[in-house]
Parts: sequence; C-alpha cells; structure tokens
Amino acid sequence: MPRRFFIQTVGCQMNVLDSELIAGRLLGLGYEQVESHRRADVILLNTCSVRRHAEDKIYSALGRMKHIKEHRPGTIIGVLGCMAQKDRQKIFRRAPHVDLVLGPGRLDRLPTLLDQIAAGDGPCLEVSLDRAEADRASVGQSFVRFTPSRERRAPGVVSLPHQAMVRIMTGCDQFCTYCIVPHVRGPEQSRPAAEILDEVRRLADAGCLEVTLLGQKVNSYHDAAGPRAVVLADLLAMLHEVEGIRRLKFVTNHPKHMTPELIEAVRDLPKVSPYLHIPAQSGSDVVLRRMNRGYTVGSYRDMLAHLRERIPDAAVTSDFIVGFCGETEDDFQQTAVLVQDARFKNSFIFKYSTRSGTKAAERYEDDVPEAVKRRRNNELLAIQNAISLEDNQSFLGRTVEILVEGPSKAAKKQGRPDDISATLQLVGRTCCDRIVVFEGPPTLTGRFLPVVIERVEAFTLHARRAD
Ligand code: SAH
Ligand code: SF4
Ligand code: F3S
Repeated sequence: MPRRFFIQTVGCQMNVLDSELIAGRLLGLGYEQVESHRRADVILLNTCSVRRHAEDKIYSALGRMKHIKEHRPGTIIGVLGCMAQKDRQKIFRRAPHVDLVLGPGRLDRLPTLLDQIAAGDGPCLEVSLDRAEADRASVGQSFVRFTPSRERRAPGVVSLPHQAMVRIMTGCDQFCTYCIVPHVRGPEQSRPAAEILDEVRRLADAGCLEVTLLGQKVNSYHDAAGPRAVVLADLLAMLHEVEGIRRLKFVTNHPKHMTPELIEAVRDLPKVSPYLHIPAQSGSDVVLRRMNRGYTVGSYRDMLAHLRERIPDAAVTSDFIVGFCGETEDDFQQTAVLVQDARFKNSFIFKYSTRSGTKAAERYEDDVPEAVKRRRNNELLAIQNAISLEDNQSFLGRTVEILVEGPSKAAKKQGRPDDISATLQLVGRTCCDRIVVFEGPPTLTGRFLPVVIERVEAFTLHARRAD
C-alpha cells in the first residue's frame, strides 16, 4: 500500500512553493497525498519563524499530535522549514514525538530520511550550518552551505491551475535587525538565468499562464555567470518572450534595488504586472536606521514618485512593523504620514515580535508595550483601509480583465466546487493583483475574462461578466 502523506504549510510564498515541490517529489515516488492528518502515515509541517505567533501555533499543533503517536505508533511526524532550521534540538525537547527536523536548505533529503525513519533509524535532524558554523567548517563537510533545492515539479502539483511560482533566488544578506530570514534561509544566491528560463518554458508547455518570480529581495537578482550579468530587468525581458506565458509578477522588492531600469522594464513589458510589493517598514529615519533597512524615508518617497511618474496606474503595496524597539509616538506618526501620502493599494501591518538570534534581540530592548503596539497597528490599518476603499471606488463601472483562479473559498465551503454545470462564486485577479469575485461556472477557471465592477470593498471588487 502506498504511504500517505499530509502536509500543512504556514509562512510566506517560499514555503508554499517548497511544499508544492515536496508534494511533487513524494507523489513521484509513489506516495499518496491526503487532506487530513488523521489519514496520514507521514505528517509534515512546513513552518515559519518570522514572528513568535507563527511558532506558537506550530508548537500547539505539535502538542495536539501527541495522541496520534499513541494510537498509531508508526506515524512519522516531520517539522520542516524555517522553524526547523532555527529551533533544531529544541523541537525534540518540546515535542519528543517528532521524528524529523529538516531545515529549508535540506529538503532534498526528505525521501531518504523518511525511508530511514520508517526502517527504525529515527529520529533525524538535518539543517544547514548557520553562517558562523559554515565559516568555520572545513571544505568537504557534507552540508556546509544552504544548497538551494533543485526545483523538481510534478505536473498538477500547484496550488492554482495555470499559475506557478518560480524561485529565482534563495536567502537574504540584508540582515534587517528584526528579521530571522537571513539566519534561517542562508546567504543570498541567485539561480542561473538559463535554468529559470528553462523552467518557465516547461511550465508554459504544461499550460501555465501566469508566473510569479520569488525571492526575499527579488529585485537584487543577479546572475553574473555569463558574459554579461543578468539582473531582474533582463530576466523579465527574457521570460517575456516565452510563448504561452501571459502574466509575470515578482515579489518581494527591496526599496533600494528598485532601479530606473527595473521600473522601465515593468512599464515597457506588457506581460509584466504593474503590481509591486515594496515594503517600507517605517516612516521614520531613526527607526529605519535601527532596522538596518539601508534607505531613508526621503529616498523611499523619491523612488515612489519616480515609479508613479513612469507607471501612473501601478499598484504598490507595502509591509510595516509597528512597535519596533525604541519607536516613539513621533516615529509612529511619521509612519502614519507616509501611509497617508503613499497611497498603497494595500499594506500588511505587523506588531514587532522579538526573534532570538537577531541583532535587534541582542542590542535593543523590546520596549513598546503590547497595548501600544496594538493601538498603532489598528490606527495604521484604519488609515490604509480607508485609502484601499477609496482607490477601489475608482473601479466602479469599469471593465477589467481578470485571470480566473477558480471557485472562491465561500463556494468551496458550500460544496459543489467540482460541479461544472453549477454557477458559483468565482475568484479572479486583475493584472494589478486586485481580487475580483463574480458568479460563473467553474469551467471558466484559467481563462482571461472581461468583467464589469459593480461594487467595491477595501480588498475585494465585486463584478459581473461583461456581455
Ligand atoms: N523579504 C521580504 C519579507 C520578509 S518577512 C522583505 O524584505 O520585505 C515579511 C514581513 O514580515 C516583513 O516585510 C516585515 O514587515 C515582517 N517582519 C519580519 N520580521 C518581523 C518581526 N520580527 N516582527 C514583526 N514583523 C516582522
Ligand atoms: Fe528580512 Fe530584511 Fe531580508 Fe526582507 S530584506 S528577508 S525583511 S532581512
Ligand atoms: Fe517565514 Fe521562512 Fe518565509 S521565516 S516568512 S517561511 S522565509
């Protein structure tokens, strides 16, 4: 009987992609994927360490899984991803029923380790050496570096048909003082452009219409191997030529690498979405410096003005952290002013969460009380939501083209998402990444379709099919 696996994913799109690649690999080896951990022989949690809340959720999920091992002792429980890399042995101490702890740079080893554990050789821990360890390690040591997993894909193992994520780089060398990512995802490494082009061509041959390029700092992409270095603007131009691909997106951008060439590439290449996620994090220079972000509020504003001048209809989104160490009320007000002025399509706002191992945890006190963080979070959200709603109102009555992603969550909950004759609530996205819901048959999934916007909310446009 094939072994059945269940995989649960938290965290960013990197993790979503890793889980897709893992699922593809295991399916290729004859495993069967199941939708509930109750039916699984192998339970995999792909984890995130970016904020404490994400980790707490994983540890409580692991706690609840203890009884599974009591009833079905042969079940293998694996903790993968960023928290595996960060917490290592601590995971076995807090959850002794875990069989496998596997860091994000070692995912290639999963099938082998599962076989070893099934043969009675568990528990196993494999993580990449951290940067200090890697510097000390002798050449030839078996896993010195974060080896980017080779991107194997099984057909059909994507979250959405017709859309795919493609990793163009791994790791991050920015070391923002609050951030755990450079510690758990390792040094910044760009994939060779030729390999990415090949992958996108294969995806297009398999019917993929939209590709999202992924990197923690996607716009610092740099392949220096060939006769001429390839940067993101060049890569976009190369991928733009791939027949079958209709839309290209990329996340996440760092403000200091938002070059005029890249902005021009977005403007001039019609397949590239005028949608840009460029996190600002704060509107105060003092805070930005303490965060080690590498730009000032003035240079962020200049970049944005340049971008808006070149691409007036660009949809720009941002992330903000409120309550970072030492953030005063005045610092926060400066952030509020930036959010007012910048008119982001949307902002993700996070309360600062101290992460051990980061510079901020070592150097600065987490001195903004939780209640103040919460208030600042709510205040910023209220400003952003009002802007998002106002901007969306300009879409009322307009006809826009969307790529249909399939039945909405609400339609899936009601059941019948597979009934092709039914009329369901469907979801699609505009080229500027706005979410549109409308009624139609699920057979429209994967089609580009004109729709008329009839009603708007801050984060959703409601539409009907254009006649
Ligand atoms: N590489 C991306 C995303 C990193 S993580 C970038 O540079 O923007 C996604 C977001 O989580 C960050 O943009 C930041 O706003 C937030 N974040 C990261 N570390 C955090 C922490 N310790 N506490 C709260 N939010 C954090
Ligand atoms: Fe973290 Fe900063 Fe790197 Fe983004 S750029 S992953 S926030 S260290
Ligand atoms: Fe989380 Fe790792 Fe992504 S820490 S945000 S899953 S890179």
